[in-house]
Amino acid sequence: MPLPTIEWIGEIDGKIKLVDQTLLPNELKYVYCDDKESIYHAIKTLMVRGAPAIGIAGAMGAVVGIKNCDAEDFESFFNEMKQVTAYLGSSRPTAVNLFWGLKRMEDVAQRNSQKSVSEIKNILLEEAKTILEEDKTICRKIGENGESLLEDGNCVITHCNAGGLATGDYGTALAVMFAAAEKGKNISVYADETRPLLQGSRLTAWELKNAGIDVTLICDNMAAHTMKQRKIDCVIVGADRIAANGDAANKIGTYSLSIIAKEHDVPFYVAAPASTFDLSIASGDEIPIEERGPDEVTSISGNKIAPDDIKVFNPAFDVTPASNIAAIITERGVINSPNKEKVETVIGNNT
Ligand code: MRU
Repeated sequence: MPLPTIEWIGEIDGKIKLVDQTLLPNELKYVYCDDKESIYHAIKTLMVRGAPAIGIAGAMGAVVGIKNCDAEDFESFFNEMKQVTAYLGSSRPTAVNLFWGLKRMEDVAQRNSQKSVSEIKNILLEEAKTILEEDKTICRKIGENGESLLEDGNCVITHCNAGGLATGDYGTALAVMFAAAEKGKNISVYADETRPLLQGSRLTAWELKNAGIDVTLICDNMAAHTMKQRKIDCVIVGADRIAANGDAANKIGTYSLSIIAKEHDVPFYVAAPASTFDLSIASGDEIPIEERGPDEVTSISGNKIAPDDIKVFNPAFDVTPASNIAAIITERGVINSPNKEKVETVIGNNT
């Protein structure tokens, strides 16, 4: 994945550079975020999206949010930083990576409370860059750990976009496919288009095609028929938050795909980094599900497709129960038939 999804430009007075994912695949445009409002807006409107990428954006957002802070003592600085992290944390509720990234930044500030404010700002910038670099390594490791689940000639269904665009680089679910292809395995993929915002058709189909992987686009409601008619070997998706018992929230439509997979005896895999686990919640019932505005459902690319003033329900995510998941592929290992004990053993702590 040669395209950098997100990067920091310059020194502490610099800015965040993002691919505007709302415009892909028609236009490749970068946006620059220089203050907390612009990065909040980029996260909220899905210019930057995908759980790990949102975590990185949040960490870099904390830096743009405090870089002009003129506090002279740690307490005033940290108070202002907490306001910035609370504000950024209110952009989207489901992907726990955002809160993980923001907390990691707060922890670093606190560990360095004895240093000058200017030193702390530079330390925070280095931490945000480290989070980005670590994510790139983690995604490669997820690919390495998962690729053995795919055999030469296998056909996969995926949903939404869990590729390089959703991470620092390379992806999570797509990392498994990229790594298998790099090993010389011939892999083909059906990509669900993923209404309402079409991350599957706009982003996943684009990434896989660019990588030279055989990809076929289907509408979300074609998945059951495709599994019945074609030889599908597995489903691989990403996740936005995984509870302590292995229940996994991902893009709306993932849960129904897991039910379809179960009905057809097709293994259903989730690929995600340790930072996507929320061990503070016992089950998926506690995962906050983002609800977005009606326009995403009543229109496609700005064209109205529903009557005026129609009532709309637009949950952005759903929860797949651990009982529907054959394995969770992480950088720390593969958790087969996930449950509380196995999640605890492999993930343990992720701070
Ligand atoms: O609303 P989005 O596009 O941010 O949703 C993204 C997903 O659901 C992804 O599958 C998930 O974040 C995993 S990304 C590696």
